[in-house]
Amino acid sequence: MSKLTVLHFPDPRLRKKARPVAGVDAGIRQLSKDMLETMYAENGIGLAATQVNVQQRVIVMDLSAERDAPMTLVNPEILEQSGTEEMEEGCLSVPGFSDLVQRAEKITCRYLNLDGELIEEEADGLRAVCIQHEIDHLDGKLFIDYLSPIKKRRLRKKIEKQNKIRAL
Ligand code: NI
Repeated sequence: MSKLTVLHFPDPRLRKKARPVAGVDAGIRQLSKDMLETMYAENGIGLAATQVNVQQRVIVMDLSAERDAPMTLVNPEILEQSGTEEMEEGCLSVPGFSDLVQRAEKITCRYLNLDGELIEEEADGLRAVCIQHEIDHLDGKLFIDYLSPIKKRRLRKKIEKQNKIRAL
């Protein structure tokens, strides 16, 4: 296994749209392992392939307190959604920043698991939020895209300042 590099906003590669995976093979299983290792090392609860500069529709998650329930979703799609929910979100690609984001409260989604089986499931709460956040990544979208223009400007300034400090 190997830990991968997570891209940080405003890296333009985070805006690339990921391609559907043709089939779950050894390459996809290895990618999933590497992504999980990366996610655990960075203390994230979810990671999309786009964030490690791989344009394939693969996401990994672990929402358990014990960090022992890894999940991999290949070609995840949202079939139905209902309600609205606002939750504080952060992202490994936007370190040191979090804000409230409004999303669907309940979703029905479909994906392939690592055995290549087609799974359909209903999710709500944090699981629903996380799946929506990660699918957004596969479409080149970040949670900060939902913020008001004022908040986005503030964030951009903060990041420019951080980058300047690092460059010294
Ligand atoms: Ni994220």
